Amino acid sequence: MDRIQITGGNALNGSIPISGAKNAALPLLIASLLTDDRLTLKNVPNLADVNLLMRILRNHGVDLAVDGKRPGTTMHLGETCHLTARDIVDTTAPYEMVSRMRASFWVLGPLVARMRQAKVSLPGGCAIGTRPVDMHLAGLKELGAEIDIEAGYVIAKAPKGLRGAHIVFPKVSVGATHQVLLAAVLAKGETVIENAAREPEIGDVAECLVKMGVKIEGIGTSVLRIQGRDRLEGAVHSVVPDRIEAGTFAFAVAATGGDVVLEGARAVHLKNPLDVLRETGTEVTEVANGIRVKRTSGAIQPVSVETQPFPGFPTDLQAQLMALLTRAAGTSVIRETIFENRFMHVQELARLGADIHLHGDTATIKGVKTLTGAPVMATDLRASVSLVIAGLMAEGTTTINRVYHLDRGFEQLEQKLTRCGAAIERLSSG
Ligand code: UD1
Repeated sequence: MDRIQITGGNALNGSIPISGAKNAALPLLIASLLTDDRLTLKNVPNLADVNLLMRILRNHGVDLAVDGKRPGTTMHLGETCHLTARDIVDTTAPYEMVSRMRASFWVLGPLVARMRQAKVSLPGGCAIGTRPVDMHLAGLKELGAEIDIEAGYVIAKAPKGLRGAHIVFPKVSVGATHQVLLAAVLAKGETVIENAAREPEIGDVAECLVKMGVKIEGIGTSVLRIQGRDRLEGAVHSVVPDRIEAGTFAFAVAATGGDVVLEGARAVHLKNPLDVLRETGTEVTEVANGIRVKRTSGAIQPVSVETQPFPGFPTDLQAQLMALLTRAAGTSVIRETIFENRFMHVQELARLGADIHLHGDTATIKGVKTLTGAPVMATDLRASVSLVIAGLMAEGTTTINRVYHLDRGFEQLEQKLTRCGAAIERLSSG
C-alpha cells in the first residue's frame, strides 16, 4: 500500500491549479443516465471516486469515452468525458460497488425516473457517521415511487412514471437534494424542493440540467422549482472548481507560511472559510485568476468555528482547519454539527504532538509551539489531508499510511505541493 512521506518546515510559494470539484463531477456523471443523448463533461478530475463511478455507469450501459491528453494540456484542465446512455441495460447497482462510494447511491433517482424501476444497494455504514438515506427515500416516495427494502437493496418502482410533488426536507442534505433533483427533472409536472441544500455543487448540477432542457428556478437558493420533462437533451458542461481542494491548500499555506495563488478558485464559494482564515491572521485576497493566500510573519490566531451547511463553514474543511489551529497562539474551539463521528483525525494529530480535547461534538484545541513528525494513519478523505497539513508544519518526517483515502478526492496532491516547495513524496509499495 502506498504511503506519503513529508519532511516538514518548508514554506509554500507559487501557484496551485485547482481541479474540478469531485462533489460536482459525481452527480454530473450520474446525470448522463437521464438522456439518450450525449452529455459532455469538461474539467472532470482524475480521481479514484470518479473512476469507480464511471465503472458503475458503464455497468448500467452508459457508453463512456475520455479524451486523450492534447498538446499543451496542463494538469488543471481536467479530463473531457463523453457519456451516452442510449440504452440502459441494467437497472441494478450492486453492493460491491455502491458500498465503496456513497454518492453512487444517487443513481437510484435517475434510474427509477427514466426506467421506472431500479434496484440499488443501500450504501451501508460509513466511517464518519451513520449517514442514513431516509430523506432520499421519502423524497422519491413523494414523487410517486414505490420503495421496498430487501436484503440490503432499495427496490424502487414507478410503473406509470414519477409525478411532480412539493417536498419539504426536514434538514439540509446535499445527497437528498441531488437525489430528488435528478429524479424530478423526468417527473410529470412541477416539483418544489424546500429546504434544499445550497452547496455550489448543487447549483452546478442544476445549471447542467438547465442546459439539458429543464426549467429550474431558484438555483443557489433553498427553494428549487423544477418543471419536469418527458425527455432531456444532451449538453456540454464544465465542472465547477473544487472549493474544498482550494480551501485545503489555503489552510496549508496559512499553516506553513508563504504566498500562493490558488488558480481558478472562486472566492464566492469560500466566503466563510476565507473569513475564518483572515481571523487567524492570514492575508487573503481575490485576484484576477483566483485567490491569493499569504502569511509571512506573526502567530496563528485562535478561532471558534461551527460547521454548517453552505454558506456556513464546510464540514469538509473542519479537519484541515484543526490541523492549522494545533499551532495557534491560544485555544480554539471547533464544533462539528453535520456528522457525529468526524473527529478521527484528532488521535492522529495527537501523535504529532497536538493538544486536542474532545467533548461530544466539540473539540478544544490548545495551540502548541511545535509538532513533531511521526507515522500516522489516514482514516477518511478529509481527515487524511489534515495530516498532510500537519506533516508540512511538523519538525522532521511524517509518514502517512493508507493514502488511498487521499486518492479518492485529491488530484495530484504531491505534485501540486512539490511545485510550491513542499518536501513530499509518495513511497510506492510496488
Ligand atoms: C455530501 C458530500 C460530503 C459532505 C456532505 C456535507 C458528496 C459526494 N459528499 O455528503 O463531502 O461532507 O455532503 O456537506 O457531495 N442525513 C440524514 N438523512 C438523509 C440524508 C442525510 O439524516 O437521508 C444527514 C446525514 O447523516 C448528515 C447530514 O444529513 O448528518 C448531512 O448529510 P448530507 O448533506 O446528505 O451528506 P452527503 O450527501 O452524504
